Amino acid sequence: MTVYLNGEFMPIEQAKVPVLDRGFIFGDGAYEVIPVYSRRPFRLREHLERLNASLSAIRIDNPCSHARWTELIGKIIDSNPWDDQGVYLQVTRGVAPRNHLFPKGLTATIFIMSDPLVTPTRALIESGAPAVVLQDFRWLRCDIKSVSLLGNCLLRTLAADQGAIEAILVRDGFLTEASASNVFIVSNAVVLAPPKSNLILPGITYDVVLEILRANGIAHEVRPVTEAELRSADEVWCTSASKEVLAITTLDGKPVGHGAAAGKPGPAFARIHRLYQQFKATFMRAPDAHGQP
Ligand code: PDD
Repeated sequence: MTVYLNGEFMPIEQAKVPVLDRGFIFGDGAYEVIPVYSRRPFRLREHLERLNASLSAIRIDNPCSHARWTELIGKIIDSNPWDDQGVYLQVTRGVAPRNHLFPKGLTATIFIMSDPLVTPTRALIESGAPAVVLQDFRWLRCDIKSVSLLGNCLLRTLAADQGAIEAILVRDGFLTEASASNVFIVSNAVVLAPPKSNLILPGITYDVVLEILRANGIAHEVRPVTEAELRSADEVWCTSASKEVLAITTLDGKPVGHGAAAGKPGPAFARIHRLYQQFKATFMRAPDAHGQP
């Protein structure tokens, strides 16, 4: 695997960072995960805008222009063998003696790598996935895509302890998101999504799903969703760059939904999943560099 670190492309084994890098010492940095379909980065502009927002929230000057990021990401895609990739990029504040106060004038550390993109298998799409509901004990700036992910990692592991693929999170009686994805529910034929706030990551896939719902006249509301609504939902979906849209079919071991449909991906999921795949296909055919269909 070829990666990029601070101005150079190299095999991953050769990529080394000093131990005083603030990313290592404090988790002081921001990151992005960009899905690449047929060697074209999906929603690149939006990912780079979110990176900008994360960096500016933690007072790191973005070390690259949009054009430079586009060039570097393009080179990483070209230098790896897979057509569909997940590009990971991270910026940390740089290397300095350990001190909580943000030092000024550091040179940011820039790292980019890519893996084969692993999306849900057909079997998982057809069966749906188990999740558990946990209290969201993370900090109050979950809108920043920070590399400090200890809370998310612990929650994901607590979910895995119970055989679940995701921890769906509630705070003060309301749905926030999941440990590594956003969450939608379907209640009485209306798709509900928690609004963007400091409590959730503004997901790029979340925006794409809302765009698709709007474009197809599918009833939906962006509004706070209670824990009771989550637990009694007809359908629950998770969305992320790698999960795309995935049905959650059990919560804490209980089937999601009602009657004969309980515990199976529902009709609204079948529709949004098909529309999402069509949206991707349009993107892969789109002629402009950013592929906005
Ligand atoms: N995670 N919420 C959280 C906490 C996330 O970590 C992610 C994505 C999302 C969905 O965002 P997007 O649709 O832009 O992927 C929501 C990435 C994939 C990760 O950390 O690997």
